[in-house]
Amino acid sequence: MTDPLIAAALSARENAHAPYSKFKVGAAIEDNVGRIHTGCNIENATYGLTMCAERVAIFKAISEGSKGFTRVAVAADTDVLTPPCGACRQILWEFCGDIEIVLVNPHDKAETLRLGVLFPRPFDGSFIE
Ligand code: THU
Repeated sequence: MTDPLIAAALSARENAHAPYSKFKVGAAIEDNVGRIHTGCNIENATYGLTMCAERVAIFKAISEGSKGFTRVAVAADTDVLTPPCGACRQILWEFCGDIEIVLVNPHDKAETLRLGVLFPRPFDGSFIE
């Protein structure tokens, strides 16, 4: 059976607004009460205002009151599976710590790894609290 988190990320990818790069990304994040929050990349004509799928998903989740997260899925149509960009790694670390990340493509390829592997030695609130 398909993992609902993967299905949600692939489905969210269909909503991507990516007329400039044509690179569609979907993300889905599961919170600790089992709710799934989704996001897609949303580009802008000024390019720099583009928002990644992962940040859309986590910001939606935070804004709806979710406090803890169990897994994130990121979907893009690449053979070498697409990982979160550096900015998204920082933001995911802030809210999720060393969370499990599932990278997927629409052709049933998937790989699971932890954020700590992608983002070693993070700067976080522990330095300034
Ligand atoms: N993008 C994401 O949404 N997430 C990633 O992890 C990598 C990049 C988007 C941003 C932009 O709209 C497009 O992919 C090309 O960089």
